[in-house]
Amino acid sequence: MRIAMIGTGYVGLVSGACFSEFGVHVTCVDKDASKIERLKRGEIPIYEPGLDELVARNVAAGRLSFTLDLKEAMAGADAVFIAVGTPTRRGDGHADLSYVYAAAEEIAANLDHYTVVVNKSTVPVGTGREVKAIISRTNPNADFDVASNPEFLREGSAIGDFMRPDRVVIGTSSERAAEVMRRLYRPLYLIETPIVLTSLETAELTKYAANTFLAAKITFINEIADLCEKVGANVHDVARGIGLDGRIGKKFLHPGPGYGGSCFPKDTLALVRTAQQVGSPLRIIETVVDINDKRKKQMAERIVAACGGSVSGKTVGVLGVTFKPNTDDMRDAPSLDIVPALQAAGATVRAFDPAGMHEAEKLLPGVVWAKDAYGALDGADCVAILTEWNEFRALDLKRVKTLLKEPVMIDLRNVYNPGDMAAAGFAYSSIGRPTAPSQNV
Ligand code: UDX
Repeated sequence: MRIAMIGTGYVGLVSGACFSEFGVHVTCVDKDASKIERLKRGEIPIYEPGLDELVARNVAAGRLSFTLDLKEAMAGADAVFIAVGTPTRRGDGHADLSYVYAAAEEIAANLDHYTVVVNKSTVPVGTGREVKAIISRTNPNADFDVASNPEFLREGSAIGDFMRPDRVVIGTSSERAAEVMRRLYRPLYLIETPIVLTSLETAELTKYAANTFLAAKITFINEIADLCEKVGANVHDVARGIGLDGRIGKKFLHPGPGYGGSCFPKDTLALVRTAQQVGSPLRIIETVVDINDKRKKQMAERIVAACGGSVSGKTVGVLGVTFKPNTDDMRDAPSLDIVPALQAAGATVRAFDPAGMHEAEKLLPGVVWAKDAYGALDGADCVAILTEWNEFRALDLKRVKTLLKEPVMIDLRNVYNPGDMAAAGFAYSSIGRPTAPSQNV
């Protein structure tokens, strides 16, 4: 089988490389000449564990290639995937579909045999129909079907998510297209992955429903965590106590500074707008968006409170600035709210992140960047953990204590145990757990 993948961003590159690992011949296309040049040289423009080896192996096997030429990529292809960006449109929160529609027009101009046009980009309900209309309009003789095949890839574990997914969702309007999609995903049928074959609209909505549900789950546990603090309960035990109920499930019940990243903030907002537009508002998700926005801002207040009510003239050591570990992605990271708020309150921020500093330098002006975690804490008045990178889980606490002016730690990811931290002599605060050592489990 042969496919073309339009867009070598995160989703396109991971999906393209993974399909080639399935034995499919994949040609990835992008308009960005320097990106294609870099990929041809074997340089991977994004940070994703395992992706460089996967790409190298499949390029060497002749199954994966990169080009600027869509016509070349679509020659003999069974399917062409659209994996371009759908950013939030400025002003109204809707998804910006201009890249998707531009891709549809270019596909139309190059369609010369039956091809399935598959949307992988996260697109509002109805976009598949619109893509179909654009192609039919541009090239009335085109022989094609449109399918929707949303991705459920988490940054940092995207390859595993693609190769061993909980499910695959495919929306099509024809049996012929369904058959092409089944053949593409054959290796997953062999490992008995559930495949949800449905309509275009249903597949499109399923993606948003999944992401907004997860965002709501995180927001729920974040609010329960705040309540735990007021009543002296431990949120981790609550999460375990409810999560062991199979109807609830254990995952995505980890409290923190609020969800960020390239998907949840954008998708929650886009679904809220779609729902309002068709007169079926999703009030629960509107509230989730509002709570999460406010939460990120409130996190700076927690840090200020832990520093005795003021950070003016003080230095805050920040560990982690990316929206989660194992990525260099800064999109909607809580640090983008927290760090400027600390600076506005008069603090100097010294920070370290294992992968995100290059991106963060542009987004967080005025931060003093350190070479490692200890460098960020040297002479600081307190330390705040914003992202749970593994290397922050095993800090030499004695060394941390000697570097800090005061042994104050604000752990927004609950990396450490309150009892251990009290024993190590830290004034330690975390999310949703009692701080007094006697109360620790
Ligand atoms: C998400 C979805 O998981 C994925 O299926 C979809 O296709 C893209 O969006 P991603 O944004 O890469 O993936 O990260 P994810 O691991 O889902 O985390 C999103 C945010 O939620 C992060 O800021 C993370 O810190 C936060 N989170 C996640 C929590 O605060 N608590 C949790 O229990 C889980």
